[in-house]
Amino acid sequence: MATPAHVAIIMDGNGRWAKARGLPRLAGHRAGVEALRQTVRAAPELGVSYLTVYAFSSENWSRPKSEVSDLMGLLKLFIRRDLAELHQNGVRVRVIGNKEGLQPDIRGLLQEAESLTAGNEALTLVIAFNYGGRDEIVRTARKLAEAVARGDMASDAITAESFAASLDTKSIPDPELVIRTSGELRLSNFLLWQAAYSELVFLPCYWPDFSREHLADALRDFAGRERRFGGLAARDVAL
Ligand code: FPP
Repeated sequence: MATPAHVAIIMDGNGRWAKARGLPRLAGHRAGVEALRQTVRAAPELGVSYLTVYAFSSENWSRPKSEVSDLMGLLKLFIRRDLAELHQNGVRVRVIGNKEGLQPDIRGLLQEAESLTAGNEALTLVIAFNYGGRDEIVRTARKLAEAVARGDMASDAITAESFAASLDTKSIPDPELVIRTSGELRLSNFLLWQAAYSELVFLPCYWPDFSREHLADALRDFAGRERRFGGLAARDVAL
């Protein structure tokens, strides 16, 4: 099986990585940003066209204020420091999640990153920020309900295709592969609609330790999977 066009990653375990070293959680998140940089460089070299990363979930607001503020600060730093290099390397940045809940300066930076890089083609980096799968589905349902109420859309025009085309991920193909680090075995509200048929790879390593080799291994694991989408394997279909 070919390389997946779209790989999505739940970057988990920054806090435990830091704790194991007697460091503050912020040190783990900083090391997490470095692992993200390396992954963004490796992904297109390994044949991946879309990379989605879960950087801040709609549930992460329940963390202590200081950690929320650290994560906001790291996102700003990442965009400010890395945007030029991302652009130079042909990376197109897309942001998914509820932008209305974000501070104006962060919204501005994300908007700037999306506009500057809109024409790039080497890799699409999708940053899930203030993102939750249920929140995305509810916002989309509300948007379509409003269109129907205005008379702009017939209710029977709401189909799986038109729904998908109204999600934050519109025009981005579904991820064939979802990777989660840190040994936790769950999706945690990540891409609930889009991951319906994704292959899942769970790795024991903490996110800051994730490397190009882990990505290459996960792609090899994916290549050995048989994807049936609810149907039968070709060899089992009666001739
Ligand atoms: C999970 O680790 C990770 C996060 C909540 C945030 C992911 C963020 C980064 C990799 C760095 C920030 C990147 C950007 C672009 C802002 P955890 O803190 O839940 O770890 P734990 O489960 O071990 O406590």
